[in-house]
Amino acid sequence: MKAVRIHEFGGPEVLKYEDVPEPHPGQGEIRIRVIAAGVNPMDWKIRKGLVGKMPLPMIMGLDVAGVVDSLGQGEVPFRPGEEVYAKVSIEEGGYAEYTVVNSMQVARKPESIGFIESAAIPTAGLAAWQALFDIAGLEKGQSVLIHGAAGGVGTFAVQFARWKGAFVTATASGTNLEFLKSIGANVVINYTNQRFEDIISNMDVVLDTVGGDTFDRSWRVLKPGGFLVSTVASIPEGAAEKHGVRAQTLVTRADGKELAQIAEVIDEMQVKPVVTTILSLSDAQKAHELSESRHMRGKIVLLVGEGPE
Ligand SMILES: NC(=O)c1ccc[n+]([C@@H]2O[C@H](COP(=O)([O-])OP(=O)(O)OC[C@H]3O[C@@H](n4cnc5c(N)ncnc54)[C@H](OP(=O)(O)O)[C@@H]3O)[C@@H](O)[C@H]2O)c1
Repeated sequence: MKAVRIHEFGGPEVLKYEDVPEPHPGQGEIRIRVIAAGVNPMDWKIRKGLVGKMPLPMIMGLDVAGVVDSLGQGEVPFRPGEEVYAKVSIEEGGYAEYTVVNSMQVARKPESIGFIESAAIPTAGLAAWQALFDIAGLEKGQSVLIHGAAGGVGTFAVQFARWKGAFVTATASGTNLEFLKSIGANVVINYTNQRFEDIISNMDVVLDTVGGDTFDRSWRVLKPGGFLVSTVASIPEGAAEKHGVRAQTLVTRADGKELAQIAEVIDEMQVKPVVTTILSLSDAQKAHELSESRHMRGKIVLLVGEGPE
């Protein structure tokens, strides 16, 4: 099969579109014929060797949507031909014509959208869902500040928070402000010429997907007992206690049950993945260059195979 692998860590040029052996599903696993594969910043962080030195060669990619192709042994609640999506493990990789994944990490894809939009969901959608609801416990009527709101995680977070009935403030550069209002932000802040801490205060939840100075300045806009959750920054020891709030760094779990919940919300037409760039699998280098710019709106997706008629 065709796949995009790396044989060494480095720049986008180490991504190789090449022939590799097909994987076979093991106990409790399913094999998916991949139709579309999502791209995440984690992909280029892994490619650069920033996440640790994994065994090489390795197939890149964490998010797929496609069709169940075959089943491993044991209890597997899917049948060949079902249309599914999943966050796959780093060891297997998703930039490939076939991938295998534990069935616990798989869900039926949303019926109301196609494979390309479905492949945009797993990592970013699960990150937003777990950060807002599982970790910070965001509730209807609460206020939330979302940093990096125009990005992959942010576009899901804005929409999930609005779906929940929260009041959403979102940060982005000037070109993304109207867009953020169109997907549900109540208040938008241009981080290039406004300091968010001069504008808002008393937030129940802050979701930080940017880190650095943005993370450091976020403590002061929380109400006492509020929650700061970051997808990138580690929490300095004692910082949450010092500010009288709670804080946690997200580590996204691959969770098929939550993907099924997200599919329901999408099929209620309350949330829509924002896919702005579609490239072919052989264009993975270009996809990584775009993602590394840190200024993409929504998601990049690689088209891998043909969908069912
Ligand atoms: N811990 C986990 O489990 C986990 C899970 C998912 C993601 N992550 C991490 O979370 C981060 C975000 O992921 P992503 O997929 O959302 O990335 P992304 O799609 O690449 O984010 C790009 C967005 O960031 C915005 N941005 C850049 N600098 C900003 C700033 N100073 N203030 C506000 N917005 C800013 C850009 O908006 P403008 O163009 O308007 O500047 C752009 O829309 C990545 O580092 C990723 O690796 C971690």
